[in-house]
Amino acid sequence: MSTQDSRKIRIFDTTLRDGEQSPGCTMNLRDKLLVAEMLEAMRVDVIEAGFAIASTGDFESVNSIAKLVKNSTVASLSRALVKDIDCAWEAVKVAPRPRIHTFLATSPLHMAAKLRKTPDEVYEQAVEAVKYARNLCDDIEFSLEDCSRSERPFIYKVVEGVIAAGATTVNIPDTVGYAVPEEFGALIRDIRNNVPNIDKAIIAVHCHNDLGLAVANSLAAIAAGAGQVECTINGIGERAGNAAMEEIVMALKTRHECFNAHTDIDTTKIYAASRCVCNVTGSRVQANKAIVGENAFAHESGIHQHGVMANPLTYEIMTPESIGVPRNKMVLGKHSGKHAFAQRLEDLGFHYDDDYVTELFTKFKALADRKKTVSDADIEALASKAGVNEVQLAKLDRFSSMASNAITSVSTIRLAVGDRLIEKVATGDGPINASFRAICDILGVTCRLEDFQLSAVTEGMDAQCEASVRVLFEDGRTYRGRGVSTDIVEASILAYLQAINTAISEGAPSILTH
Ligand code: KIV
Ligand code: ZN
Repeated sequence: MSTQDSRKIRIFDTTLRDGEQSPGCTMNLRDKLLVAEMLEAMRVDVIEAGFAIASTGDFESVNSIAKLVKNSTVASLSRALVKDIDCAWEAVKVAPRPRIHTFLATSPLHMAAKLRKTPDEVYEQAVEAVKYARNLCDDIEFSLEDCSRSERPFIYKVVEGVIAAGATTVNIPDTVGYAVPEEFGALIRDIRNNVPNIDKAIIAVHCHNDLGLAVANSLAAIAAGAGQVECTINGIGERAGNAAMEEIVMALKTRHECFNAHTDIDTTKIYAASRCVCNVTGSRVQANKAIVGENAFAHESGIHQHGVMANPLTYEIMTPESIGVPRNKMVLGKHSGKHAFAQRLEDLGFHYDDDYVTELFTKFKALADRKKTVSDADIEALASKAGVNEVQLAKLDRFSSMASNAITSVSTIRLAVGDRLIEKVATGDGPINASFRAICDILGVTCRLEDFQLSAVTEGMDAQCEASVRVLFEDGRTYRGRGVSTDIVEASILAYLQAINTAISEGAPSILTH
């Protein structure tokens, strides 16, 4: 692909902000740093690290990412308010390339129902916010929230005003995923034709996927002249999500002749980034998801398989290698060495230090002793630390459980809590329920199991099982936990303990009475 005369499209990744707002996708600080590292390695232009004023935790994560990332711009979202802008700036100013991203709604509905402001007041607030922010930082993005449902003359006025006030990027969001491609492209074209100073800023777009059109709308906007797209890995985000980065990037690469535009993304890191986000959020992508789904490069029908064997181009418009999926992967088993294992971890999106890789390798060897071949799913299950808290207040020391369809199930759990070993016996409706009761009894915790899922990570009788739980605490907060084992009771106990450990370390009410 020649990129000589093609336009560069900036990739603004909001996995850590809009993506994190999607249900079940909350990430802890360590998860966010892993994702930020991954995004920088992919050569993302702008990483939206979070919404600094939202909480102390959000401020800390934006600030830590700003300290970590060297090559990508690091942005924090802020409402168009002085206190938000100050907080965003405080969080990102250490970054070599900081950006303040401020926003205000411009649609009649949002202005009247949410902001209770007149268009003149909104205009004034937007312009003042940008002026204020520009005094702090050279790189200012302004977003007209719900722009796709805003009125044209008002859009032009606000865009012109904020550019004159110092905005370097003006973002046109389809906040509720309402637009259709032709209409959205026309909006971008109209803005280019009706805002006199539009050449002083980059036009960005930010599309939500409520009608499944986020990527199509983003591409229509690029064709109409947008220079930045906002997107997330795997398309995670509010409600139905945001435009998926991997789909936009691969569409521009695969159909370059249609757009004459390119991104700087290293596409061979796409698969690892997708896996990394799945692993830290614990939320999987559907098998038929474009580009990164399990079936994206699988050919099931005989006719297709025959065609691909004769010439891959018959049914493949891009290669698995181009997104970082090796076509012929080495099978890992008990004779595999640490080097091959470490490489596979990297390919799957896990970037751990050598000590932790060594620890995982020992677990891998133990698993390989039990299973003939260890699949990628097994390795992911082993390596994924989704939601794991560094502080493990209570660790499983041993358990025994008795299940029967004739008498009440009984579990005996022994936990290591600090330097003490505490054992309790409990009965319940089945061995898992009995185990959870014993754990609560040991730790003096009152909580409610809100969601519990068990799934086989791999196929076959020796499959590993993954348990995931969501637990509600008395303070109204919920915590997730995940556990993996070839034994379903053990996987469940580990998941439950992980959720409780996280809850306790984050200050959820508990009484360690023993
Ligand atoms: O969807 C939206 O409008 C947003 C803005 C804050 C950019 O996320
Ligand atoms: Zn959004």
